[in-house]
Amino acid sequence: MNSQDFDFITQLLRKRAGIVLTTDKMYLLESRLAPLARKEGLPSIDDLIQVVRSRRDERLITQVVDVMTTNETFFYRDKTPFDHLKEAILPILAQARRGGRIRIWCAACSTGQEPYSIAMMLDQMPQLTGGVPVEIVATDISDRCLDRARQGLFTQFEVQRGLPIQTLMQYFTQQDDHWRISERMRQMVSFRKLNLMDPSYNLGKFDIVFCRNVLIYFDGPTKADVFERISQTMNPGGFLLLGAAESVIGITQAFESAQDRRGLYKLVSRAAKVA
Ligand SMILES: C[S@@+](CC[C@H](N)C(=O)[O-])C[C@H]1O[C@@H](n2cnc3c(N)ncnc32)[C@H](O)[C@@H]1O
Repeated sequence: MNSQDFDFITQLLRKRAGIVLTTDKMYLLESRLAPLARKEGLPSIDDLIQVVRSRRDERLITQVVDVMTTNETFFYRDKTPFDHLKEAILPILAQARRGGRIRIWCAACSTGQEPYSIAMMLDQMPQLTGGVPVEIVATDISDRCLDRARQGLFTQFEVQRGLPIQTLMQYFTQQDDHWRISERMRQMVSFRKLNLMDPSYNLGKFDIVFCRNVLIYFDGPTKADVFERISQTMNPGGFLLLGAAESVIGITQAFESAQDRRGLYKLVSRAAKVA
């Protein structure tokens, strides 16, 4: 791939998805675009890029962006966010939202392991919400991931990562060499396509936002914009959970760290920000 093609694709990714790709990631471009070129019946990556450049084919551009997303995820990833949910967040919200409902958003859900982990946890521990209904909305930019998430179909490898065996037995049934999560769990999560680069997110207001392991791909100003838009989708008193390598520090004042809880942030009230 020549340097003009590399620049073209990296600019496209940055503009369309916020994803920043540095030259040391050239190998990623090649390993991910080659299968797409084959699928499109094109002889090489260079041909694929020429088609994208010349025809500005939206369908193909969407697919280029999709294959360039990193979709690594697993059930109960990192454990701590689920501990925060159980120990610090839900006890507060179960009181505060009594008579109403709690809304949770997984803002980059990949193939669904994160929202389904939340759904299974809530189902196993109904005392956490004290009868307050919970709605889980899960979004991602990738159609490929969302299709898989909606099907709730996981490989043997995927269910072996992070999922306790009793939970596997309780919520999954084997289908050939895959495992399908129960219809009841699938009903607990609604999946929608959403690009975090969109100027606004029309999803209503949330009490809890999981935005984990996606902002690592964005540059500082993009992260700041995304934090601002996320803060606008949240109810007062809302909680934000980030990935282990992510933080709001030095990027936004819309959130503040929760004491002694790594990766957990609280929405700063508008009045406190003005003061
Ligand atoms: C590494 S996965 C993280 C999945 C899950 N949150 C976790 O922590 O296990 C990152 C996800 O972010 C999605 N993504 C990347 N850019 C995005 C964007 N601009 N808008 C929405 N989702 C995006 C990718 O498609 C991918 O599924």
